[in-house]
Amino acid sequence: MHLQTFSTPEEASEAVANLIISRINAFGPTQHHKFVLGLPTGGTPVRVYENLAERCEAGEISFEHVISVNLDEYVGLPPTHEQSYHHFMEEHFDIPPSQTHILPGVPIHPIQIITGTDPSAASEWESDLKAHQVSCAAYEALITYLGGINLLFMGIGANGHIGFNEPGSSFESRTRVVALNEGTREANARFFEDKSRVPTHALSMGLGTILDAQEIVVLALGSNKAEAIRRAVEDGINHMTPASVLQQHERVTFVADSSAASGLKEDTKEHLKLQSQSQSHSMHLARHGAAKSLITNSTNPPIDAAIDTCTSTTGDHGQRTNARPIVTLLAKGEVLLDHSEEGDEGDSLPGL
Ligand code: GLP
Repeated sequence: MHLQTFSTPEEASEAVANLIISRINAFGPTQHHKFVLGLPTGGTPVRVYENLAERCEAGEISFEHVISVNLDEYVGLPPTHEQSYHHFMEEHFDIPPSQTHILPGVPIHPIQIITGTDPSAASEWESDLKAHQVSCAAYEALITYLGGINLLFMGIGANGHIGFNEPGSSFESRTRVVALNEGTREANARFFEDKSRVPTHALSMGLGTILDAQEIVVLALGSNKAEAIRRAVEDGINHMTPASVLQQHERVTFVADSSAASGLKEDTKEHLKLQSQSQSHSMHLARHGAAKSLITNSTNPPIDAAIDTCTSTTGDHGQRTNARPIVTLLAKGEVLLDHSEEGDEGDSLPGL
């Protein structure tokens, strides 16, 4: 886990935009090899979206070959509703609809179409629920079809929820219909006329779906997120703080402004900051060939092969998985070029 803290919300948001841009550019998406970006809604990501739009305008980044998948949507709000997440995304993230995927808040009734079932035979809610469950299953299938999420950007709720996975959500959960907790409805009432207008349910990627993303970045702004960040980062993994499950993800970065980071111990900030720096340094080495030249000076063919895999940041899941051990070793300064005896090449990088 990595943590980056910044004095202001603007700086923290810029850091997240930088991370998104650097990952997309390093991936080098093409028409046949698209980058899949998971996206949030809410107040938190607004400055990030503004920053991305400006930098797209300036030619620093293109979303032409980026596919977005959103985390969640309110049940019952049509895309035209100004508080629907469909509407939010249209307002804040301008990529063609054909590249954008958001769960449908209004039920689509494929069961009725396929089987001819009369929805009035069941209660309206049961029928809608079934339709929503079909949409959720289809969304999971879509993410699998896209090859998984390359980078998932998220906010965090004051109660530690991510997406709409409220406290108590299963760590194995997949995209599904969830009941919103009263605290979340109260927190989100600021976007509606009053709390009674906030939907009681939502569709959300599950915690299992989130954990499957290759990389995750969580942005937290403001003092009302301080306790959630403290529990997510410093406490043990606990169902009552859904974001704490991210501790078991291999590649997650929390980005916080000073208010959101104010509940963390100084030691925690220092330690996790150092981890962030060492990782970015090792990624830089890997991307810019220093690692490769280090290795290719050796006479050890298996290491050459391994570092070729490591330096390819544009690959599929398998390549990234293979890349991690060497990058980690480089971060710790522990790559030992042990010139093994002939026929004993396999022992040259202990621990791989
Ligand atoms: C909302 C969304 C989350 C979001 C969180 C925080 O309810 N479902 O995806 O991260 O709550 O919202 P905000 O950024 O407005 O504080």
